[in-house]
Amino acid sequence: MAPFFVGGNMQDIDKLGDELQAAVEAAGSLDDLEAVRVSALGRKGEITSLMKGLGAMDEEARRSAGTALNALKDDIAAAIDARRGTLQNAALTEQLETEGIDITLPARAEARGRIHPVTQVIDEVVAIFADMGFSVAEGPDIEDDFHNFTALNIPPEHPARQMHDTFYLEAERDGAPLVLRTHTSPVQIRHMQSTSPPYRIIAPGRTFRCDSDMTHTPMFHQVEGLAIGHDIHMGHLKGCLEEFARVFFEVDNLRMRFRPSHFPFTEPSAEVDIGCSREGRELKIGEGNDWLEILGCGMVHPNVLENVGLDPDEWQGFAFGMGIDRIAMLKYGIPDLRAFFDSDLRWLRHYGFAAFDVPTLAGGLAR
Ligand code: PHE
Repeated sequence: MAPFFVGGNMQDIDKLGDELQAAVEAAGSLDDLEAVRVSALGRKGEITSLMKGLGAMDEEARRSAGTALNALKDDIAAAIDARRGTLQNAALTEQLETEGIDITLPARAEARGRIHPVTQVIDEVVAIFADMGFSVAEGPDIEDDFHNFTALNIPPEHPARQMHDTFYLEAERDGAPLVLRTHTSPVQIRHMQSTSPPYRIIAPGRTFRCDSDMTHTPMFHQVEGLAIGHDIHMGHLKGCLEEFARVFFEVDNLRMRFRPSHFPFTEPSAEVDIGCSREGRELKIGEGNDWLEILGCGMVHPNVLENVGLDPDEWQGFAFGMGIDRIAMLKYGIPDLRAFFDSDLRWLRHYGFAAFDVPTLAGGLAR
């Protein structure tokens, strides 16, 4: 290196300075930059070597060359520092972009499964009645004649048995064939037989009748309600069901009608209609002048209480039975009941509910 400097050629120093500045700017990474630094300022670097050559110069040349070299050294060192800062910033930015956590992403991937409308509606019904002090009771899908009929004041040969389109099984108990339960009312009997009053239960579950069309499937769902106490009367029944229907259908002034009816296990008995409008194929709950039946109910028949060993003079109360699939269709505008049980994933994706949105009265029944 020394020879080109022997003459103390300032233009050469300038030229070297330009080259080194260009090399610093061109360094694309911290490693490249370090290589440039070593080649200029390292022990055997160009500037270092030139400085070593200063001792061999005469005084005047040494002074001017020394000043110029020191300035060059400072300039290049400063340029390297600046470039290092730029490269470090770029590296950090890139790291942040590639390794950063995108906080706009949902914390949990959307679950692929959906909650079936029947399950959803059962959860909603349970939430509403739980708030009124009811707890959930269950019974078996396969019932015996006594619990499904006789204890409910439907003796053998009673015409109501025909109306139930019963599935009879080959197996028998107590000389009568077992059945797939035709309603959830046997859960009333089982609950009263196994615990002592007062009672306040609801019993959602599967029920079976030999019937199939747009609005009937051989398997369907009901929810039974039973409240027995010392002075429960029909006003309680009415208030309870009105409260339920308004909360469930989310219509504050929902019109309701209690129509006299007949069930062997209640006296008096009623069927309950809610107000609706039917325009063309569209059905709207809570509007218009039409009526739609949603449940059967009544005051528990004294014979039923006696059948489970309760004194009807001491204990009275009400019961009701409601079709779950039916109120699900009404609330969520689902036209064909049969599709409920087709296990078609496209249907479930459309009508199903998000798995993490558990219905509560405080948080909202359906979202
Ligand atoms: N079990 C009746 C049915 O399936 C409904 C009902 C239940 C009616 C309780 C009155 C009381 O149709």
